[in-house]
Amino acid sequence: MKIVIIFHSVCGNTYLMAQEFYNAFKEKKQNVEMYRVEDSTLDKTAQIFAPAQDFLTEIKKISVAAPQVMENADLILLGSPTYFGNVSGQMKLFMDATSPLWIKGKFIGKKLLAFASAGNSEGGGDLCLQAINVYGQHMGMLNVSVPSNIKPGITVPAYGILHYSGNGSVRPDKNKLAIAEMVNYLLLS
Ligand SMILES: Cc1cc2nc3c(=O)[nH]c(=O)nc-3n(C[C@H](O)[C@H](O)[C@H](O)COP(=O)(O)O)c2cc1C
Repeated sequence: MKIVIIFHSVCGNTYLMAQEFYNAFKEKKQNVEMYRVEDSTLDKTAQIFAPAQDFLTEIKKISVAAPQVMENADLILLGSPTYFGNVSGQMKLFMDATSPLWIKGKFIGKKLLAFASAGNSEGGGDLCLQAINVYGQHMGMLNVSVPSNIKPGITVPAYGILHYSGNGSVRPDKNKLAIAEMVNYLLLS
């Protein structure tokens, strides 16, 4: 199975989630690649937010995804920060840039898992996940939902893996997000 993880991140949280997924798939000896979406304003936006300084250099080292990287994948993970109850503009631009492949039906039948970071639980992070899922439905993908019993003791949205960063500086905890459990589930389903 070929797995491709594509994310957008400025303050580093969605990047760290992508990294945790990447590491968990690697531990399972999977064929996995990780990319970021193009962000022509990354340096400028990063100047506004203090937490963005922590991972800016690391993020910039990740290869930028062309839409074609999804073409040979069986499982795709798309991750975005929540911007005004939606995906970021940069993630939306990436999605829209895949339309030549959508027209050719290149993504039909591929599995898709959404993940997102949001400031707080009232901020619409679930809407961001849903925006990714709606994109997947338009592409003819098979959206993977998160089972309610993915990990005893934690509650999770069905729509994808969601992290809350507070003012941007509360970093994702792979245990609280059940990343390993979700990877196991993805590999079994
Ligand atoms: C332009 C902008 C809009 C945002 N809108 C929301 C929002 O609607 N709801 C929310 O909970 N957080 C919102 N946030 C906060 C981010 O979703 C949050 O800091 C997230 O952890 C950033 O992800 P990143 O660290 O991967 O960049 C917004 C941040 C920015 C810069």
